[in-house]
Amino acid sequence: MFAVPENTVISAVRTAPQQPTKIVREVAADRSRWAHLLRYDPVERWAALVERTATYEVWLMGWLPGQHTDLHDHGGAEGAFTVVSGALSERVARRGQPGEVLHVVRTGQSRVFGPDYVHQVANEGTDPAVSIHVFGPTRAPMVPYRLDPVDGPVQS
Ligand SMILES: [Fe+2]
Repeated sequence: MFAVPENTVISAVRTAPQQPTKIVREVAADRSRWAHLLRYDPVERWAALVERTATYEVWLMGWLPGQHTDLHDHGGAEGAFTVVSGALSERVARRGQPGEVLHVVRTGQSRVFGPDYVHQVANEGTDPAVSIHVFGPTRAPMVPYRLDPVDGPVQS
């Protein structure tokens, strides 16, 4: 008999999606599921719920040039996003570490995030961008952060 370390066993009560990148890519590839929901709002980034299950939500987002989020986490949610048109700039901040890491996420590329993930996302290009996001178990309200020069992201 041997002991199984606790952190190697998936909890039966886990409610986050098991394969968020697979989910966003499948939804992104089937435009009939979301194209009719797409809008561009000149005031703020557009977001529309595509589908909701017991363990995750899929959201469509439309980004005009210059539109962006502030630095945030997802209130304990985890998930992934993929860009289906244009490009998004993602700045990831890690707790206890100064600075941010920039990822340019282009059409067809995806990023995955855990429950402690802090980032800021922007359309810094000259064309609109479209992205599909999965949040598990739900798209909780974004928790705002500021970037401390020594400690990295700190809740604001
Ligand atoms: Fe986010």
